[in-house]
Amino acid sequence: MAEIRFDNRVAIVTGAGGGLGRSHALLLASRGAKVVVNDLGGSVDGRASGGHTAADKVADEIKAAGGEAVANYDGVDSAEGAERIVKSAKDAFGKVDIVINNAGILRDVSFMKMTEEDWDKVLRVHLYGSMYVTKAAFPILRESSYGRLVFTTSAAGLYGNFGQANYSAAKLGIVGIAKTLAQEGAKYNIKSNVIAPVAKSRMTETILPPNLLEKLKPELVSPLVAYLSSESCQETGQIYAVGGGYVSRVAIVEGMGANFDPAGVLTPEQIVERWAEISDLSKARPMSSAMEAAAAAMKGAMG
Ligand code: NAI
Repeated sequence: MAEIRFDNRVAIVTGAGGGLGRSHALLLASRGAKVVVNDLGGSVDGRASGGHTAADKVADEIKAAGGEAVANYDGVDSAEGAERIVKSAKDAFGKVDIVINNAGILRDVSFMKMTEEDWDKVLRVHLYGSMYVTKAAFPILRESSYGRLVFTTSAAGLYGNFGQANYSAAKLGIVGIAKTLAQEGAKYNIKSNVIAPVAKSRMTETILPPNLLEKLKPELVSPLVAYLSSESCQETGQIYAVGGGYVSRVAIVEGMGANFDPAGVLTPEQIVERWAEISDLSKARPMSSAMEAAAAAMKGAMG
């Protein structure tokens, strides 16, 4: 097949000063993309600010390899910061084609001990950050009738994880934005997809065992991000699990359910009686929109 390239394409990669973002930025740049390497260089919990070094290092690495990049040090977690990130792309390269929402922090703590600040900060960086940066870029994408959005969720968001109520809420919220923008972007050739990665990074090096970490190179995640960022990608509104050489579509599915007479009286006991049918996912299917899900439910109800 033809090589996937990004010549004349401009990509913003948030949180690209290390870990997965760095790997995404390097891969896109190596294939011709002009890249805004955004990172405020903070600590994993977002408490300490780190300065310019992280973003500068990755931008320099790209330039040393013959690619084009600019560093940007703004936080994704404010509308003003996001606007400056998008302005960096416009000032340096004249446009934006690709937005990879990757920046993130962790404030892991059990729900009982989680403070409102832990909750807010994680939502601000992941959920609001993804929204702010995408919102600042969206008019440019619409105007050019081209855009590729890649959002970053997590297994913690899709399935839940002990000590990560804030993070899982933010990460599943991101799926919601991505799926809705797939619909709002459809007529402008804006594709919007989500990855749920697993990779070695400072976020995981204290959580996962060393022998496993060695198999989880960020470079095993970025090729999927590159494909989803490319012109050849026609998928939209999808979620993919990726890491350690594994790549798989993930879907939210709905079973065939049980239908009761909508004109009759429905009791809790009737629901319990048909619990097996209600729980059965053997014929479950993904839905491409809330409208499709509503239509399927109505069709069932109408017999
Ligand atoms: P990382 O900590 O190496 O990278 C995150 C980067 O985001 C850091 O360089 C950090 O400075 C930057 N950042 C933090 N707050 C920022 C802000 N307000 N504005 C701009 N940049 C900011 O961690 P990693 O693992 O590379 O994470 C990348 C993304 O992947 C995150 O969204 C994370 O939640 C997600 N993820 C990672 C997994 C893994 O196994 N590594 C698993 C599931 C999701």
